[in-house]
Amino acid sequence: MLNPRLDQLADYPFARLASLLGGLEPGGEALIMSIGEPQHAPPALLAGALEKAGGLWGKYPPVQGTPEFRKAVAAWLKRRYALAEGFIDSDLHVLPVAGTREALYLAAQMCVPDLKRGHVPAVLIPNPFYQVYLGGAVLAGAEPILVEAPEGAPDFAAIAPSVLERTAMAYLCSPANPQGSVASLSQLKAALALARQHDFVLAVDECYAEIWDKQQPAGALEAASALGDGLKNLLVFHSLSKRSSVPGLRSGFVAGDATLIAAFQRLRSYGGATLPMPVLAASTALWSDEVHVEENRRLYRDKIDLAERILGSYPGFKRPEGGFFLWLDVGNGEAFAKSLWSRTGIRVLPGAYLARPGADGRNPGLPYVRIALVHDLATTERALKAIASILMEPS
Ligand SMILES: Cc1ncc(COP(=O)(O)O)c(C=O)c1O
Repeated sequence: MLNPRLDQLADYPFARLASLLGGLEPGGEALIMSIGEPQHAPPALLAGALEKAGGLWGKYPPVQGTPEFRKAVAAWLKRRYALAEGFIDSDLHVLPVAGTREALYLAAQMCVPDLKRGHVPAVLIPNPFYQVYLGGAVLAGAEPILVEAPEGAPDFAAIAPSVLERTAMAYLCSPANPQGSVASLSQLKAALALARQHDFVLAVDECYAEIWDKQQPAGALEAASALGDGLKNLLVFHSLSKRSSVPGLRSGFVAGDATLIAAFQRLRSYGGATLPMPVLAASTALWSDEVHVEENRRLYRDKIDLAERILGSYPGFKRPEGGFFLWLDVGNGEAFAKSLWSRTGIRVLPGAYLARPGADGRNPGLPYVRIALVHDLATTERALKAIASILMEPS
């Protein structure tokens, strides 16, 4: 009765965490730092934009969204990545999606053929990784190939040529969840050049592109612009969930290769959720505004500064270049998450749940916990001090 491919997926990390902590009482008021759900106030302009378009709830929205939405996105991409006029055509290269989670999943359903050059197709996934990539690859019938990516971007070029020949798609995340590392422009160019050489789709998840620390992360569209040959083989995924602190709005977009966008639109006509017209209108307003984004970024930066002040002397601490997670080496992530929960009520995610054992049988996430810095500064300070006092206890 069920698709047997589902058996290849482990329980989602939050279900695994619930089992791990199931029998344990929290040692204080529960504080959830395991989930990357932005808690900053949504931008003030959101409510007004939704209300203004309130007469449109009665309409079925088109899969391709509105021209205004697509134009606002194309204009934002041009500004954000300093792209040439016309590099992004709002009608050919942009498609709204109901959050990037579903789009990242569906992209694999679109890109993975039954066979590639006569072999089982492969999908390359950085390890550790956002779990939806694996779900997308497995349900599409591909063999997931995990590529270790402890820092920066995974080195896809180091993969055996026989695997690259049957690769249908590669996921890349920058800034990376959970590591907080950022792929350089040259790494993005190399990944796209490789995708073109072996004719696979490079799917770059840039949903943390606007949450950065010292330096604005490069984007894969910049890599395409530098390489020439338009947007061939490339899809990029962006979301308002983190940029504008509206994870409940379910609003993002995918941009890239016109052939892929047209196929994606066709696929989404059958199996994708469309964005309601008021959501499209509000999203248009949000992509057109930078003021709230700068403020949001400042709030995260303040918390990263705070984390560095509190945890900086701990050897397992590394300041993230982007995103809002601490990826903290604590020796044994599961043991630490259990102890932290039962002693303080702070819930963090064991890194092992965000990775899979590699070819050597070792799970690269094992020593880590992921801590989401999504709460206000005072709450974050209390939590980080409690975490520090446990970490720095003499053993
Ligand atoms: C790396 C990464 N990609 C994509 C998403 C999906 O975000 P959304 O569906 O809200 O756009 C998330 C959400 O946590 C994420 O961490």
